[in-house]
Amino acid sequence: MNILGIETSCDETAAAIVRNGSEILSNPIASQVATHRPFGGVIPELAAREHLKNIDTLVEEALKQAGLRRDDINAIAVTQGPGLIGALLVGVSYAKGFSLASGLPLIPVDHVHAHVHGAFLSFAGAKPEDFPCLALVVSGGHTNMYFMEGPTRFKLIAHSMDDACGESFDKVAKMLGRDYPGGPAIEALARNGKSSSYAMPMMIEKKDRLVFSYSGLKTHMLNLIRSLPQPIPEQALADLCAGFQDAALGQIVRKIEAALIRHPEVQSVLIAGGVAANKRLQELLGRAVTKRCLFPKPALCSDNAAMIAAFGYHLFKEKRPSQDLSWDAYARYPFETYLT
Ligand code: KG4
Ligand code: ZN
Repeated sequence: MNILGIETSCDETAAAIVRNGSEILSNPIASQVATHRPFGGVIPELAAREHLKNIDTLVEEALKQAGLRRDDINAIAVTQGPGLIGALLVGVSYAKGFSLASGLPLIPVDHVHAHVHGAFLSFAGAKPEDFPCLALVVSGGHTNMYFMEGPTRFKLIAHSMDDACGESFDKVAKMLGRDYPGGPAIEALARNGKSSSYAMPMMIEKKDRLVFSYSGLKTHMLNLIRSLPQPIPEQALADLCAGFQDAALGQIVRKIEAALIRHPEVQSVLIAGGVAANKRLQELLGRAVTKRCLFPKPALCSDNAAMIAAFGYHLFKEKRPSQDLSWDAYARYPFETYLT
């Protein structure tokens, strides 16, 4: 079964074709980084206009790279939310038009849940033996932990009460004069540092409290950086980054341990989102957790349409979408049952 995925929630226009939720036939992405860079952030109106300009070319490119014709597609999956509303509307309207013209079923997809399926694609897609699964989306916008009993059964069991984990890396990097995204810069600096050199706060210390928090650590870093001689000497900088990184990632490891105590039946722990690329996180988790840990390929961590198509496949198989197109971007999901 070939699913065409369409993603336009933020600053990447993407289309992809995935076979049976596991095999990526094509996955072209048009990044808008150059358009938004002069403004230091994503400008929603510009993002929507860029999507409008590129979407049709991307879909044609996805078909061409896969060596398929429109007739070879069995269903369309599109990001319905969350995201920038103008940007989402471009993808949703395009997908509805495609569906009406072709008669193909259209599957609306949650972007954050789809990140989990992007990660699964690194391992040839989600398989029955992976479940129950503890899945984390650790990105610049989310620190969500899900208990999943199947590929479409997402139960949110922890999320951040303030900043996201990746966001805290970005903000600390900015305090240190580094560019966005800050995660890779901090990881590189931390490599030569000693994490015990500076005391770090223990966030959400109570072991069984399943919630994340990063704003206290961020404020602690701001005060610490201000108290040091400027420019910060090289070794002190490395020690600071190592201390911050271990505190930020240590919280994830602790909360995974806590979740595994509650759910000993878990078969795999999957980390999705940009922070999953962090090697220190892989090392800390590998040491603390005996369950099978799945770390995806970095290219499948960031926004793409293959993850939309892969999740769409499982929704199609389990929930059978109707031909009702009266839902809208960001509205409640037609597949209420997969939300808990
Ligand atoms: O999932 P993603 O590509 O985009 C969204 O946030 O939607 O995640 C980007 C986030 C940024 O905050 C970035 O700093 C963080 O992931 N990140 C990392 C690393 N690589 C990317 N954080 C820590 N260590 C890394 N190696
Ligand atoms: Zn995303």
